[in-house]
Amino acid sequence: MDYQLLKFVAMLIMTAFGDTSLTIEACSPNDIKALMSFKNGIQIDTSGRLKKWVGLNCCKWEGIVCKNLTIRVKEINLPGFISKDGDLFQTQMTGLISPSIVLLTSLEVIDLGGLVGLSGIIPLTIGLHLTNLQKLYLYGNNLTGSIPENIGDLQNLQELALQENKLSGSIPLSIGRLKNLKRLLLYSNQFSGIIPYSLGNLRNLVELDFHDNALTGNIPDEIGKLQALENLDLSNNLLSGNLPSSLTNLTVISVMYLDTNYLEGTILFPSRPGEMSSLAFLRLHNNHLDGKIPSNFGYLVSLQRVSLSNNKLEGTLPSSIGNLISLTEFYISENFFSGLIPKSIGQISQLIMLNISRNFIEGPLPQEISSLQNLQTLDLSFNHLNLSYIPKWIANMSSLSRIYFAGCGIHGQIPDLLQTTISPIQELDLSMNLFNGIIPSWIGNLNQLYMLNLSKNYIHSHIPHSFRNLHDLAILDLHSNKLTGSISPIFDIEQQGIFGGSLRFVDLSDNKFSSGIEKIGVGEQCDIQFLNLSHNILKGVLPNAVGRMSSIYSLDLSFNELGANLPKVMENLTSLETLKLQENDFTGKIPIGFLKLMKLKELNLSYNLLEGEIPKGKPLIDFPKSCYSGNKGLCGKPLSPCKL
Ligand SMILES: *[C@@H]1O[C@H](CO)[C@@H](O)[C@H](O)[C@H]1NC(C)=O
Ligand SMILES: *[C@@H]1O[C@H](CO)[C@@H](O)[C@H](O)[C@H]1NC(C)=O
Ligand SMILES: *[C@@H]1O[C@H](CO)[C@@H](O)[C@H](O)[C@H]1NC(C)=O
Ligand SMILES: *[C@@H]1O[C@H](CO)[C@@H](O)[C@H](O)[C@H]1NC(C)=O
Ligand SMILES: *[C@@H]1O[C@H](CO)[C@@H](O)[C@H](O)[C@H]1NC(C)=O
Ligand SMILES: *[C@@H]1O[C@H](CO)[C@@H](O)[C@H](O)[C@H]1NC(C)=O
Ligand SMILES: *[C@@H]1O[C@H](CO)[C@@H](O)[C@H](O)[C@H]1NC(C)=O
Ligand SMILES: *[C@@H]1O[C@H](CO)[C@@H](O)[C@H](O)[C@H]1NC(C)=O
Ligand SMILES: *[C@@H]1O[C@H](CO)[C@@H](O)[C@H](O)[C@H]1NC(C)=O
Ligand SMILES: *[C@@H]1O[C@H](CO)[C@@H](O)[C@H](O)[C@H]1NC(C)=O
Repeated sequence: MDYQLLKFVAMLIMTAFGDTSLTIEACSPNDIKALMSFKNGIQIDTSGRLKKWVGLNCCKWEGIVCKNLTIRVKEINLPGFISKDGDLFQTQMTGLISPSIVLLTSLEVIDLGGLVGLSGIIPLTIGLHLTNLQKLYLYGNNLTGSIPENIGDLQNLQELALQENKLSGSIPLSIGRLKNLKRLLLYSNQFSGIIPYSLGNLRNLVELDFHDNALTGNIPDEIGKLQALENLDLSNNLLSGNLPSSLTNLTVISVMYLDTNYLEGTILFPSRPGEMSSLAFLRLHNNHLDGKIPSNFGYLVSLQRVSLSNNKLEGTLPSSIGNLISLTEFYISENFFSGLIPKSIGQISQLIMLNISRNFIEGPLPQEISSLQNLQTLDLSFNHLNLSYIPKWIANMSSLSRIYFAGCGIHGQIPDLLQTTISPIQELDLSMNLFNGIIPSWIGNLNQLYMLNLSKNYIHSHIPHSFRNLHDLAILDLHSNKLTGSISPIFDIEQQGIFGGSLRFVDLSDNKFSSGIEKIGVGEQCDIQFLNLSHNILKGVLPNAVGRMSSIYSLDLSFNELGANLPKVMENLTSLETLKLQENDFTGKIPIGFLKLMKLKELNLSYNLLEGEIPKGKPLIDFPKSCYSGNKGLCGKPLSPCKL
């Protein structure tokens, strides 16, 4: 009644003034009612948008769009990320999503994404009332409950984005009735149960992303019917069974050209497409999938990124992978793959990243790998390759800069050919091999080196002085070798500018280093976060500069021959979580400032020559006795009280 009256008055005014710019319109009472109950459900709205929802012309309210003819609400656009003057910023809406929004029966778009405090459930009758809905964005909220079965009645739905909530239950079978669906994003929730076979009906689906849930069962064979699919992400679930053979079904047309004659290393028809010829991203990592990669995998001609890591897949890699001419990233680490790498791999000319680590793949490596002129990262670690030596052609690969050959059965000297790679080496992991020579001094010339891991070999030499040139070095792991001499070249590395790399992680433990302790913290390398010098024969005194390493969270100097008092400045190391100094010759008292090391979770001062009272208070009193035992004369909690 009020509403009709108001509309009438408004029309009178408009007519009287003959001015249409003064338009005062009111939207449908149902729409107002629905929007008001939505507003009432929200307690906090940091954006201030809802505060301005007053009057009856809801079409003018911020975030609301109406249809011109019917003046019914068509869109709610209140996303958590707002862009203002080119900047994006996040707002909060805390409260419950009102079930009354289903009264907005003309709605085509709901965008309430990224409102982290928005709680409640997906309205139970959504499918019965909002049949015009095309886009439903409720991602990044705090929604609980499950997806109502009647979601399948939203016949116009094109995008369903419910990712990053706390939704649970199984994915309703009825989703298979959403024939117009293009994007189905349910990732990062707590969905369980199986993937419904009915998804095979979604012939327009371009993106299907269910990663980070607890889905079980097989990947249904019907997936192979999704001919428009570009992105399939089922990673981080509990899926089992084989990769569906339907993934690689041939299209009816190409059956006519069916011809499986392969020449050694070459494939006659390099781009024969399968039915899923649009699939570009296939992410199935971190599941329990088993069986083989289908031999026709190469029919997935549009593949750009494939990750199958951490499953139970087995068998040899099919030579049809040579057909994947668009493939840039291929991750198959942590499976049970065996056999040889097919020669056809050399045809994947766009490949940038190849990670086959932790499988049972055998050598020899096909030289064809060397034709991968775009390959930047090659991780062959921990297979049954038994390479004996690093193949010479590695140095000829024009883009290769990250080389991971851990546990590859390589012996002898670190080969000089790594000195002359076309692309400067940035990451080099030769750990757990049988290298036994020296660390060549040309390593200091690898001026883009960011990570070097030579741990667990039999290398016996000094650290070359040339290391001081490694301006970009951030991660250095030389542990468990037979290295001798001084650790000082590490701390002499000159940082180049504020953006240059600087050492963050250093593990020199389990070697025979004897000198250089006076350098720690002295040079420019004081952003170190992790330093392990344990199990060496380091002698000398900790310098006061140790107090400059203010970012360090783990310091292990245990099992050395370090002496004298613990520097008082160690109280500066307030980021420390782990401090292991046991089995040295430290003397004097535990500095009272150790009470400032509030983040300490692990401490060991045992088997030194420390004496006096353990400073009283947290965190020191909370450690077990064994952290202080075997000293000259420590007393007080947790040890026995000091004698007066
Ligand atoms: C509705 O009207 C507005 C303002 O006159 C106009 O900008 C808009 O394009 C119209 N929309 C449709 C769908 O006709
Ligand atoms: C999310 O919802 C739960 C209840 O399901 C509530 O306890 C919690 O406070 C909500 N979190 C936020 C950020 O609003
Ligand atoms: C794949 O091809 C097989 C044999 O042609 C057929 O039986 C099956 O239905 C196809 N699967 C899909 C999902 O199209
Ligand atoms: C290869 O994959 C494994 C996990 O499966 C990962 O730990 C490793 O870092 C990857 N290698 C590179 C170079 O990224
Ligand atoms: C690895 O290769 C070397 C030389 O080719 C051979 O002597 C050795 O037996 C092989 N080791 C294994 C475990 O296959
Ligand atoms: C590396 O490339 C050079 C120049 O193209 C060529 O002469 C040499 O034979 C190549 N070496 C290997 C091992 O492929
Ligand atoms: C270096 O390699 C060893 C053995 O492969 C590994 O355990 C260690 O984590 C690696 N170090 C770093 C810093 O990645
Ligand atoms: C330091 O290295 C030793 C020997 O390699 C190892 O046992 C110890 O756990 C390491 N310490 C830390 C804190 O990682
Ligand atoms: C200890 O930390 C303070 C504040 O960060 C700093 O000014 C001082 O130089 C540090 N002391 C040493 C010895 O590095
Ligand atoms: C501290 O180190 C000693 C000597 O290595 C060891 O016996 C003891 O178990 C360690 N204590 C803790 C809590 O790690």
